[in-house]
Amino acid sequence: MHRHDKYYTRPPLGSGSQSEMLRLCHRTFYGDETERRKWQSPESILVDIGLRPGLTFIDIGCGEGFFALPAARIVGREGKVYALDSDPVAISSLVEKAMKSNLKNVETRVGTAEDTVFCESCADVVFLGIVLHDFDDPAKALKNAARMIKPSGRLVDLDWKKESTGFGPPERIRFSEEQARRLILQVGFKIEQIRDAGPFHYMITAKL
Ligand SMILES: C[S@@+](CC[C@H](N)C(=O)[O-])C[C@H]1O[C@@H](n2cnc3c(N)ncnc32)[C@H](O)[C@@H]1O
Repeated sequence: MHRHDKYYTRPPLGSGSQSEMLRLCHRTFYGDETERRKWQSPESILVDIGLRPGLTFIDIGCGEGFFALPAARIVGREGKVYALDSDPVAISSLVEKAMKSNLKNVETRVGTAEDTVFCESCADVVFLGIVLHDFDDPAKALKNAARMIKPSGRLVDLDWKKESTGFGPPERIRFSEEQARRLILQVGFKIEQIRDAGPFHYMITAKL
């Protein structure tokens, strides 16, 4: 079992439409993504943040590629996706899926956000998909993100709202929008926008 699975597998409680929504959410970060796609569309989020053909997208804490693989399809042959995760099993799964889909524009690495800089000032987007609260040293990870982002590029931090959802990581370890905003500002970014991204997540975009 992955160390995060315990947060995502607990069935939600309750009844009615809210409960049905929660039921759809109770699992899939590391397995079949069909259920997750019922409440979170990676394509919509990626297009919403301005991803388009030819761009360079860096996915930090990419897991099995829920965002990295659709990003690779969007940026196309002229673009590039770098995907990093500390979990070698997640990276193996992503590589296998990329090969099956004949995606040749994805470069993966097993490593930590705190210790990895893929390239200097090279990224149009550095994406943190539901992971900032997981880092041992979020400020260090954000400093590395800042080194990778082009002057015209942006940081995207998508994360769980700090509220009870009955599934997902425990509320106590989640970062509120305000906590995440402060961390991002401390590293020297300027906040562009903070908004809802579906029923359970917020998204912060920031520029250098
Ligand atoms: C909740 S999962 C999200 C995965 C993916 N972004 C998604 O939305 O499906 C968080 C991921 O971050 C990875 N992770 C946690 N700490 C990390 C670190 N310090 N450096 C790199 N990856 C890390 C975990 O292994 C896990 O795959």
